[in-house]
Amino acid sequence: MLIKLFDQKAKLSATPIVCLQRQDFAEWLEKQASKTRNWLKTNNFKAENGDICLFADGEGLLKKIYFGYDHSDPTLFSKLVNKLPAGNYFLKYSVAAQELQEIAIAWELASYRFDKYKNITKPKANLLVTDKVDLTYIENISKGNQLLCDLINTPAEDMGPMSLAKAATNISLEFGGRIKQIIGDDLAKQGFNAIYTVGKGSSCNSRLIDLRWGKENHPKLTLVGKGVCFDSGGLDLKSPAGMLLMKKDMAGAAHVLALASMIMRSNVPVNLRVLIPAVENMPSGSAYKPGDVIKMYNKTTVEVTNTDAEGRLVLADALSLAMEDEPDLLVDFASLTGAARIALGADIGAFFTDNDNLAKNLLKYSTMSHDPIWRMPIYAGYFSQLHSWVADFTNASLDSSRLGGAIVAALFLQKFVGEKQNWLHFDIMGADSSGHAKMQGVRALFEYIRINHKP
Ligand code: BES
Ligand code: ZN
Repeated sequence: MLIKLFDQKAKLSATPIVCLQRQDFAEWLEKQASKTRNWLKTNNFKAENGDICLFADGEGLLKKIYFGYDHSDPTLFSKLVNKLPAGNYFLKYSVAAQELQEIAIAWELASYRFDKYKNITKPKANLLVTDKVDLTYIENISKGNQLLCDLINTPAEDMGPMSLAKAATNISLEFGGRIKQIIGDDLAKQGFNAIYTVGKGSSCNSRLIDLRWGKENHPKLTLVGKGVCFDSGGLDLKSPAGMLLMKKDMAGAAHVLALASMIMRSNVPVNLRVLIPAVENMPSGSAYKPGDVIKMYNKTTVEVTNTDAEGRLVLADALSLAMEDEPDLLVDFASLTGAARIALGADIGAFFTDNDNLAKNLLKYSTMSHDPIWRMPIYAGYFSQLHSWVADFTNASLDSSRLGGAIVAALFLQKFVGEKQNWLHFDIMGADSSGHAKMQGVRALFEYIRINHKP
């Protein structure tokens, strides 16, 4: 949480954060009073990046925070926020405007808590900032992050396809968008057989959520998000450990709704469309089966070799629909494969595009906004893994090693958008290594869209 520095009353009771870097530390330490020197030594504080030491006065009251920080990575502050007692804090030495802005963003994002189901909530640590920071911008990102994390963290029981549609409707109402939905049997009637089929095993109706906002004459930006509200794997049932976090399998939907809300809140002049196939992937007597053939919305036939590779199926129908509008930029976000996580780990989101210029730009904004993402290749050679002797192709490789699994999934999706230069696919985790919701790629892409306007 952030407070403006102008609030002098808040500053009076605030604790200073003293940032120290390793290379100056020994010299600095020499000049300190013995009490400080001894305390920092006792606590083994060496001013390494991320080192934290709380310092109290003679009364035992919190006096200062010593923090190892060499100014290279403002996101280090996210490690500090939740280690501090509730109260107000300020930076002892002034930093450049841009750096303070990034510190404030890191602080704000790390302050997020999911306390919807908690009886007791703890007060937070607040950072006092100067008017050098753009609070409107930070608030926009913070609200987007809060929406995204709340949607992902909410248990599947309370965030099924209907609740996800409600959330999208609320966002649409807030910003004057127009929303439509295709629900249940109507999906099959209108040819969205993949969305219909994947959701057949669930007692929830599947939905295709379709939100539009902005002016017709602005560049067309279409965002598609995987909205698998729970992924049990279907009849190819996941293991208990593999299933535990699968309430997060609508993370793609949460990412596109968050990005859309940020675009709408800051009035970026784009003609925006958000498409979310919202389903639950469940085993039951009516569930789709391995070996089934689906006639997709674009008439391609797909043999289901694994009911757990459901995300690409529902996304494919939504992407085919998106293509009818010929958007200037088409982006999808999905927690699509475990393989993306194996490739890049939990901190870095994978993205795929055939557009080198777009990739280069995006990586630039990724670095600038401290939002780590990395480009992966759409290597056509792996498509043979999806060979089917029954249908046009399969939805998953039969090879259990799943080598290059994220690339194979991207190749599957590419069949539905064509080899166009204006498609960007994110394969994201949806959560950090502890399973807490995490925003990936949204800030980098928001910057790209905000600054380039014309997607
Ligand atoms: N929701 C999963 C992907 C996933 C797994 C994301 C773990 C984040 C963490 C997806 O629907 C899935 O089950 N993918 C399979 C595909 C396979 C059957 C080809 C996978 O990655 O194992
Ligand atoms: Zn799955």
